Amino acid sequence: MINYPSSKLPDVGTSIFAVMSALANEHQAINLSQGFPDFNCPDELIQLVTKYMQEGYNQYAPMPGMAALRHKISEKTQKVYGYRPDADQEVTVTSGATEALFAAITAVVKPGDEVVVLEPCYDSYAPAIRLAGGVPVYVPLALPNFSIDWDLLRKNISRHTRLLIINTPHNPTGAVMSREEMEKLANLTDGTDILVISDEVYEHMVFDGQEHVSALQVESLRQRSFVISSFGKTYHTTGWKIGYVVAPPALTAELRKMHQFITFCTVTPLQLAIADFMDNEEHYRSLPDFYQAKRDMFCDLVRPSRFELMPSAGTYFQLLKYDAISTEHDLDFARRLTKEVGVASVPVSAFYHNKTDHHYLRFCFAKSEDTLRQAAERLVKL
Ligand SMILES: Cc1ncc(COP(=O)(O)O)c(C=O)c1O
Repeated sequence: MINYPSSKLPDVGTSIFAVMSALANEHQAINLSQGFPDFNCPDELIQLVTKYMQEGYNQYAPMPGMAALRHKISEKTQKVYGYRPDADQEVTVTSGATEALFAAITAVVKPGDEVVVLEPCYDSYAPAIRLAGGVPVYVPLALPNFSIDWDLLRKNISRHTRLLIINTPHNPTGAVMSREEMEKLANLTDGTDILVISDEVYEHMVFDGQEHVSALQVESLRQRSFVISSFGKTYHTTGWKIGYVVAPPALTAELRKMHQFITFCTVTPLQLAIADFMDNEEHYRSLPDFYQAKRDMFCDLVRPSRFELMPSAGTYFQLLKYDAISTEHDLDFARRLTKEVGVASVPVSAFYHNKTDHHYLRFCFAKSEDTLRQAAERLVKL
């Protein structure tokens, strides 16, 4: 008999995204739970991948990423954020933002280090911190707008704080950090050795004329930050799992030590295809309008329902509050909505370590008009 070791993450089960998607499949519900588009990526991208595969680009890529892609990322960063990272020393291509987060966290967090996490938050942060021996320090975002409570944040920073993780535009709430907030964060960390991870995977989904503010745009923050993005979100290719990290040379060197033993490198023909496609600036420049139209359509259709629409300033998620419909816990309500009404969502309590329930569900509107219309028709009947 083998005595298997006890779990390193005993409280971690299957992610809520997989659970809700499986429930959606089981009940043939419309799946607005997991964050992925139900429409295809640009045809040109598919043709480029095919071309590079046929040309024989099917072997390992260089560990930090294909040079062509790293240079394009560097150029684009200059164009969009006014800072040109060194393609060789400051840009690393990873297997999705998920790997980038894991590599950045494990690169810098040592046993006993505290990592400040603003909740609700993406589900991969805390497990990565804990596996590195770090201690997540959870600081709730302030309702109703899920903004940063600066006094509370300040109180939770100690001499053990090694890292602080921000996410803007924010999943699941759709909140977007302003330039003023980014500068406040810079002031808060100035004079300390605290590092920052700025998860900016939804950088091109900011609405109503507002601009995404990157940590790269504030110099003192840039010097202490891993700024992470994902081509999956920008190019409607979540299944390709290609992301990247921009970080100062010393942080990049440590991050790459992790990256080379997690995956070593990322899919070669996909990197080359994306590098070519990045010349098409129009694609990412039109993304805010593209997704804002979907948000507005979904909201207009859901407005007559008994759900309360919360503001969504960015991302492809819309929160709906269901106080007027039920007093159930959000997980129970989300399950019932999937089974009985035929629309799958994600309960926001899943983004809190202690499952705090404010009666919000998260709906993904990265879907075709048809899908959104059918889902809204069902929600309005409740
Ligand atoms: C906030 C946030 N960070 C990171 C990721 C992971 O991105 P990727 O699919 O590129 O690993 C996601 C995906 O949903 C996300 O919402």
